[in-house]
Amino acid sequence: MSAKIRLDKLLAHMGYGTRSEIKKAVKQGKVLVNDKVAKDSGLIIDPKLATVVFEGQTVVYRDVVYLMLNKPPGVISATEDGRERTVIDLLEPEDRLLSPFPVGRLDKDTVGLLLLTNDGQLAHELLSPRKHVPKTYEALVRGAVDDQDRIQFEAGVTLDDGYKTMPAELVIVDRENREDAIYSTIRLTIKEGKFHQVKRMFEAVGKKVVFLKRLSMGALELDQTLAEGDYRELTAEELASLAHR
Ligand code: URA
Repeated sequence: MSAKIRLDKLLAHMGYGTRSEIKKAVKQGKVLVNDKVAKDSGLIIDPKLATVVFEGQTVVYRDVVYLMLNKPPGVISATEDGRERTVIDLLEPEDRLLSPFPVGRLDKDTVGLLLLTNDGQLAHELLSPRKHVPKTYEALVRGAVDDQDRIQFEAGVTLDDGYKTMPAELVIVDRENREDAIYSTIRLTIKEGKFHQVKRMFEAVGKKVVFLKRLSMGALELDQTLAEGDYRELTAEELASLAHR
């Protein structure tokens, strides 16, 4: 967005309605710019300097958005897709205005923490393979995950395409006997993000991930009060912790 912007465009960006609704509100004298009733919805203003009040409410200008989503199963981590529902489809129209995109990908059936932003710089820093940002997952695995697996993951395992993974930290949380097999609940922290990495790491040791949830990415932890499919803005503290890593 350039430094100066039309009043109606600014208000539309901030979710105050369509351009025509905003034009109407301006005509009705419901919009103030620097304490004066705005006469023209095409007024050019500097959104960082002007004080804009819409129907009595002060408009807080911003051009970046940071949303934490608890991704549900069955949606894909993309901005648009001809056939499948995407994580962007889960957002309210006003939260789509600043064109957020998902930072990295979770598989269609994976749930949990997904950051959505339009801050390309932050996304790049979180995803850059050179930064080794840790990501922690919780998984239910068919098979008895044991200390041997923990040691192997620490040393690195060879995936189906021959790639050897970086050291990863495996914590065995629980194990239970079910009718068909033993199942293990684990936490795994990886510092890279190869395609289907967690699932393929367990395949490499002869086990199968049947449920996968991301708990954290760098300093950002999933807000456990968010139901699957729900999202919220990052708090100032969360944003600061990510920006200063
Ligand atoms: N690893 C996987 O296998 N799938 C994901 O969605 C994320 C990490």
